[in-house]
Amino acid sequence: MSMDSSVVFFSSWMILALLLALGTTAPQAHARAFFVFGDSLVDSGNNDYLVTTARADSPPYGIDYPTHRPTGRFSNGLNIPDIISEQIGEQPTLPYLSPELTGERLLVGANFASAGIGILNDTGIQFLNIIRIYKQLEYFQQYQQRVTTLIGAAQTERLVNQALVLITLGGNDFVNNYYLVPFSARSRQFSLPDYVRYLISEYRKVLRRLYELGARRVLVTGTGPMGCVPAELAMRSRNGECAVELQRAADLFNPQLVQMINGLNNEIGGDVFIAANAFRMHMDFISNPGAYGFVTSKIACCGQGPYNGLGLCTIASNLCANRDIYAFWDAFHPSERANRYIVRQILSGSTDYMHPMNLSNIMALDSRT
Ligand SMILES: *[C@@H]1O[C@H](CO)[C@@H](O)[C@H](O)[C@H]1NC(C)=O
Ligand SMILES: *[C@@H]1O[C@H](CO)[C@@H](O)[C@H](O)[C@H]1NC(C)=O
Repeated sequence: MSMDSSVVFFSSWMILALLLALGTTAPQAHARAFFVFGDSLVDSGNNDYLVTTARADSPPYGIDYPTHRPTGRFSNGLNIPDIISEQIGEQPTLPYLSPELTGERLLVGANFASAGIGILNDTGIQFLNIIRIYKQLEYFQQYQQRVTTLIGAAQTERLVNQALVLITLGGNDFVNNYYLVPFSARSRQFSLPDYVRYLISEYRKVLRRLYELGARRVLVTGTGPMGCVPAELAMRSRNGECAVELQRAADLFNPQLVQMINGLNNEIGGDVFIAANAFRMHMDFISNPGAYGFVTSKIACCGQGPYNGLGLCTIASNLCANRDIYAFWDAFHPSERANRYIVRQILSGSTDYMHPMNLSNIMALDSRT
C-alpha cells in the first residue's frame, strides 16, 4: 500500500486542525492509543479486504453487533479488542486496511490482525492471502509514517510509546499447521516439545521487533485450551472430553511463553510485556459453564455436525436463539459474552490470570508517569 496524494493533501490541512484540537483539550483529547496484532481472535475485519477463505463477512456473523451486520469479526457481536477499547474509554480501533482509517481516526490506533495467521510464516498458507505477522509489523511502521505526517515525529513516538498493544498468536501454529493434517510437514520435522521451543524462539523475535518499533505496554495472550473448542471436540474427542494432544500443546507452550516474556522484560529492564493467561480464562467457563451463565461450553451456537463443530458458520448452519448462553459462538471462537469475561480478567484478574499485573494496574501506573 502506498499513500495516495489525496491523503497527503487531506493531511496537510488536518495538521492545523489537529494541532488546534490537541492544543485546547490535551492531554485528555484522547485516551491512549490501542494497537492490535494477531489472528482471528482479534481481527476486526482486515480479511474483508483480502482474497482469502478466512473471513467472517457474511451472516450470521455480527448478528449481535450494534449494526447487526457482519464486520469481519469472528464473533456474534464484539470481540476482545472492542471490549478492551470500551474499557480504556476509546472508540474501537479500525482495521488497518479500512479506507475509513484516515485523519484523526489514526490517532485512536489501528488493528493489524488477520485471521488465519500464526507465529510462523507457513501457518495458514491454506487461507491464501492473509497478513502474516511480519507484514503486520511492516504495516505498523507504515502507520507511524502516516501519523508522522499528521502530528510530527516526536508526537508520533509519544503516541506509540504510550499506547496499549495487544498481540494474540500461536493457536493457528498448532490447529492450522502442526495438527492440520496427520503427518503434516511440521510434525514430521519436529517432535511437539521441539516445535514448541521453535515457536517460542520465533515469537521472541516478533516481540523484540514490536519493542524496537516503539511498543512499551504489550498484552501477550497465551493459547486457549485448543483441545476444548467445539471443532476439536467434533474431530478428536470420543465422549466430549477435551482433545488430549492439543491440550498437551497448550500445556507446553503457555509456561514457556511466560518464561520468555520474563526473560525479555529482564533484558529490557521494565515490564513491557504482560502475559495474559488465556488458557485459565477459558478453562473457568469451560469447566463450569453454569457458574458463568452458559448452558454449554461444548456446543457452538453456530455450526453443524457434532457440537456444531464441523465446517463453517454460515446462513445455512444451526443457529442458537440466545447467544449469551453459549460460551462458543462458532467452532473456534468465543461468544461476545465469553469475550466479556475474558476482558474482565485481563482488566482486573489476579496474578494467576495476568502476569506480572493486570490492565487496571497498568492504567493506574501509566497515568502517574
Ligand atoms: C518470515 O518472513 C519474514 C519476512 O517476510 C522474515 O524476515 C523471517 O525471517 C521469516 N521467518 C522465518 C522463520 O523464516
Ligand atoms: C487487578 O485489578 C484490580 C482492580 O480492578 C485490583 O483490585 C486487583 O488487586 C488487581 N490484581 C492484582 C493481582 O494486582
